[in-house]
Amino acid sequence: LEYVLTKKDMKGKKVLITAGPTVEPIDPVRNITNRSSGRMGYELARAFSYRGAEVTLISGPTNINPPYILKRFINVNTALEMKNEVMKYYKNSDIIVMSAAVSDYKVKNYSNKKIKKENENIILELDRNPDILKELGKIKKENQILIGFAAETNNLLNYAKRKLVEKNCDLIIANDVSKKEIGFDSNLNEIDIINKMGDVTHVKKSSKRDIAFRIIDYIANNYSG
Ligand code: CTP
Ligand code: CA
Repeated sequence: LEYVLTKKDMKGKKVLITAGPTVEPIDPVRNITNRSSGRMGYELARAFSYRGAEVTLISGPTNINPPYILKRFINVNTALEMKNEVMKYYKNSDIIVMSAAVSDYKVKNYSNKKIKKENENIILELDRNPDILKELGKIKKENQILIGFAAETNNLLNYAKRKLVEKNCDLIIANDVSKKEIGFDSNLNEIDIINKMGDVTHVKKSSKRDIAFRIIDYIANNYSG
């Protein structure tokens, strides 16, 4: 019933969303990952679909079942795999939302065999992963809406604004990840939406499900066509 009652103001829009963490293997039994439940991205995917959009969700490993209503669901592990899939689908997308917690680094020398604990100290060398959002910012078309997230523990709005500029986003969703009650494993969130002019729109603490719809309201109200 909720689906039927939701206005279909995103009908005809193609939306690409990334969600969840990426996972970078160290050896066959160990990996490096980011804290991320994927919930915010999955709620966005669900909400955009409810509003009539055709959603492609590219997700790192999560415990969430993909909403049945999605157009396309793609599982990935590493940041490089995520980048590959994003590059396949971004061209055709009207709105791109990078809500994934992409691993900034990957292990330089993956070991085919399990690393044994032979030494008191070991050094793991890491290489930078590509910044998917930043690359999209360089190649995006005029009419595409590119939305990033900024997960910060301090200096939230300043860091978020800097990311908006550096990655050439249209919007950035600033997320304070230091607060327990709205943190990684919570169903709640509280965000600020920042646009290119630097205007900040606060969305007060609410369920991630609700916040997803508020983000879409903002897009619907501020971008036409
Ligand atoms: N992002 C990305 N590719 C990466 C790292 C981040 O596409 N390799 C995207 C995230 O999906 C998010 C935005 O960039 O939309 C900001 O991610 P965040 O981790 O907050 O910022 P970083 O630019 O990685 O900077 P830092 O972690 O140093 O704060
Ligand atoms: Ca990062």
